[in-house]
Amino acid sequence: MAGGMTMTCRRPFSETDRLLTRDLKDCGQPSPNPETGHIGWSAFVCQEVSGVPAAVPGRRHTRTTLPPGRQPSHGAGPCYQEECVMTEQAKTEKGRVAVLGCGVMGAPMARNLLRAGFEVRVWNRTREKAEALAGHGAFVASTPAEAASGTDVTLTMLADGAAVEAAMTGPAGALTTLPSDAVWVQMSTVGLSATQRLARLADEHVGFVDAPVSGSSEPAERGELLVLASGGPTLRPQVQPLFDAIGRHTLWLDRPGDGSRLKLVLNNWLAVLTEGMAETISLTTALGLDPDLLLKTIAATPLGSAYALAKGRAMVNNDFTAGFPLHHANKDARLALEAAGLERIELPLTEALLKRWAQAISKGHGNDDVAAAINAAH
Ligand SMILES: NC(=O)c1ccc[n+]([C@@H]2O[C@H](COP(=O)([O-])OP(=O)(O)OC[C@H]3O[C@@H](n4cnc5c(N)ncnc54)[C@H](OP(=O)(O)O)[C@@H]3O)[C@@H](O)[C@H]2O)c1
Repeated sequence: MAGGMTMTCRRPFSETDRLLTRDLKDCGQPSPNPETGHIGWSAFVCQEVSGVPAAVPGRRHTRTTLPPGRQPSHGAGPCYQEECVMTEQAKTEKGRVAVLGCGVMGAPMARNLLRAGFEVRVWNRTREKAEALAGHGAFVASTPAEAASGTDVTLTMLADGAAVEAAMTGPAGALTTLPSDAVWVQMSTVGLSATQRLARLADEHVGFVDAPVSGSSEPAERGELLVLASGGPTLRPQVQPLFDAIGRHTLWLDRPGDGSRLKLVLNNWLAVLTEGMAETISLTTALGLDPDLLLKTIAATPLGSAYALAKGRAMVNNDFTAGFPLHHANKDARLALEAAGLERIELPLTEALLKRWAQAISKGHGNDDVAAAINAAH
């Protein structure tokens, strides 16, 4: 793979996987399962459930046939067909993880970590959301410090930079109890200035990996997020099993902060596509054409993007069930504008759409899906 970037994948074996597998062997991680081609921790699980003696003492597995229509219980991959029962000893060996933030994204991420066999300690400002995870096996902490105590990795999935900083610092902050050999994985979308500030905070205490994610609540539920990770190469083996549990791919970038840079760029693209679709649907309707005709026509040509079409369909159907809420998309567009300003470039489209999104938010659509941006015009 080109310099500066490594992709890890749990899916069908590709050339990328072959290269990664070589890397995993070099760093002493599990090798691929010969039957499934899975790599990383998934391979580890597959090897065990496919009859090869368990490499982790204390784990036991039972095979079950899933009843018709029943969804598999594992995060992803062919291991879906297996029930894996983790003993307490095996959980400890897998690692202890704190998840700070049990919102739309943090909660499914915590559930996938639990399914993958991690010992998970959760904290959320509004305690009820964390308590909902107790039934899945999580320990519910009263403070970030209590959650982070004795963990190998502490993961932050909070609204913005200020919320992350508040959870990590102060007398009840996670940094007061995180062991010095632990890693703080920052997965919220906080932009560049906050990422730099948070990395500096970590510097004095623990390892830091900047790892925002791409993908909304549904991919999070399925353990299929794209993890955009950047940070010290020595920390990668410690956090990769965790990324494998919550994500479909990990894109490793060498330069610190590049995870957050790429996240801003992707979300700026998402913003422009969404607003472009909203305005084009408005124009289509104003010209007396059926918006379905627009969607069908662009779907049949190179003009169609799966994302824009999905948002267009939601706009036409007035279905604003939140996948990615407008208020987060609005925050990210602001962060992109701020980053552009620091580099002395202009983003006229982003600047313009923010004004319109402010109108949609003021009409009460902040918690709706970003597709509700179309309501600025109505
Ligand atoms: N949703 C998506 O599709 C998506 C996709 C990719 C990335 N992201 C990013 O991931 C992050 C989390 O997103 P989400 O969708 O999970 O958000 P969410 O459901 O709105 O949850 C936000 C979390 O932050 C907490 N929080 C907010 N302000 C706080 C403060 N001042 N102090 C402490 N905690 C605070 C909330 O606690 P309470 O429960 O007490 O309010 C909640 O745990 C955001 O940065 C978002 O941009 C979201």
